[in-house]
Amino acid sequence: MKYKVLALAVLATIIYSCAAKSSAPTASTPPPVKTTTASTVMTAELAEGKNLYENNCAKCHKLYDPKEFSAEQWKPIVDRMQKKAHLDDLAGQKIYNYVTMN
Ligand code: HEC
Repeated sequence: MKYKVLALAVLATIIYSCAAKSSAPTASTPPPVKTTTASTVMTAELAEGKNLYENNCAKCHKLYDPKEFSAEQWKPIVDRMQKKAHLDDLAGQKIYNYVTMN
């Protein structure tokens, strides 16, 4: 009788541990999603605009801080200044994108 109880207990333990193993959580928590704001990302194109700006726009005057003017103010300024600097529309557009990135 005592032997039977012991055998049942062992059997119960084995069944229990197997069940516990299979029901253990297997899904790991997903890594946090990285969010990047477009305005802070310096793309190759913006870097090119920065380069164009720094190399062409400080010949006649100091390099203006892009933050000195709003995007609306920059539009006519770049149009006017790109002609002074003898730059084409594509270069002007890149400079505009750079100075208005933030
Ligand atoms: C050939 C000389 C020359 C070059 C090159 C030049 N500028 Fe100018 N810039 C001027 C002069 C002169 C003024 C002031 C008179 C005016 O606004 O036309 C000026 C004024 C400015 C102002 C002040 C505008 C305002 O309305 O107060 C900004 C900003 C400016 N330039 C940006 C640029 C940028 C950006 C470039 C490059 C694409 C550039 N400049 C290239 C001659 C130049």
